[in-house]
Amino acid sequence: MTIQAAISLATPIALLATSHDESAAQIAPDVSLGRAGSPEALDALARRCSMLTFDHEQVDPGIMRDLEAAGHTLRPSARTMAIAQDKSLQRALFQREGLPVPPWQQLQRAADLAEFARSHGWPVVLKAARGGYDGRGVWVADSQPTAAALAADLLAAGVPLIVEAWVPMERELAVLVARSPSGGLAVYPVVETVQAGGICREAVAPASIDSELAQQAIEIATTIATTIDAAGIIAVELFLAGGKLLINEIATRPHNSGHLSIEGCCTSQFENHLRAILDWPLGSTELLAPAAAMVNLIATETAIELPSRLPRALAVKGAHIHLYGKEMRPGRKVGHVTALGAGIEAALTTARTAAALLMEELEGTISEDQRPLNDGW
Ligand SMILES: Nc1ncnc2c1ncn2[C@@H]1O[C@H](COP(=O)(O)OP(=O)(O)OP(=O)(O)O)[C@@H](O)[C@H]1O
Ligand SMILES: [Mg+2]
Repeated sequence: MTIQAAISLATPIALLATSHDESAAQIAPDVSLGRAGSPEALDALARRCSMLTFDHEQVDPGIMRDLEAAGHTLRPSARTMAIAQDKSLQRALFQREGLPVPPWQQLQRAADLAEFARSHGWPVVLKAARGGYDGRGVWVADSQPTAAALAADLLAAGVPLIVEAWVPMERELAVLVARSPSGGLAVYPVVETVQAGGICREAVAPASIDSELAQQAIEIATTIATTIDAAGIIAVELFLAGGKLLINEIATRPHNSGHLSIEGCCTSQFENHLRAILDWPLGSTELLAPAAAMVNLIATETAIELPSRLPRALAVKGAHIHLYGKEMRPGRKVGHVTALGAGIEAALTTARTAAALLMEELEGTISEDQRPLNDGW
């Protein structure tokens, strides 16, 4: 999706991918194959490019520092990426800055869990400090024996762990900020996300929260963007619990919660990522409709031929369908659908209708009450 944005701006991109099957590699005009963990692959890429940017965080911090030391420009920088890569570093930094985070601590020994739970109660959430995504690396444990056994296994396997209080949240929110090296900031309307099993299922904007809370969320996100010296898009994931905001984690790249910006906002997160890292003027983040909704297409155990289902989903008026050309492995995000609407329900109904036509296990027909409202958006 970043490449789609780069095409409009006639900005050439050289892509490093691990295989030609990767979504971006299927469309990029200039692909080299190599792992993000390979110093040689990154060095060869850096020599051909005026700057490097990233669409995931799993790049070795040492390699990034070496590239910077050799005079290459990384946006975001090695230091900024190091913060995004480590939930423990993030928590510690935000806490030092006086920003709100859930109660947490680094977990060196499984035996320390009992004391943490005495102070904060059960369940607790164990998280791999590094390497997790889509809920892989997040475990909710509701009793001492389960938590201690799990933590002992993970620590023995060398997984760096944090433990945090389980937050009984009313909503999950995300704020996307584009930041350019000269300090320019563009903030997107607060998004509300719905997660299940640690995976984002849906996102809607604007979030149904009052303007004061939205302002607080935006202030937290812009403070973080400046504190970590962000370049490009960052996403700040927040919990709303007891009417108060807590920071969950950040990503220093275009993020799933911002996919709805492609059709929903004046400038997509992908275009603003490029504008920001190139230090060009940032584009307006304004919503183009009263509401925008995005539904992820997540593969299940059932074998589904998306291309053959595409035409009937395309018949849903107002649904914008994105297929990533990925192999259907259970739990994998293989596409998304965005819709705009006069309100969140209308936008969601349109997006869900098309998503169901693509992904539902039974080739059923859509019932009358599931039909999109077609309210003009
Ligand atoms: N302390 C907590 N209390 C309650 N739920 C939590 C807590 N931490 C995480 N979760 C739930 O688990 C989800 C995944 O957690 P988190 O964002 O830390 O994991 P991740 O695998 O790094 O996610 P991502 O896919 O965003 O990279 C959250 O979006 C939230 O729904
Ligand atoms: Mg997350």
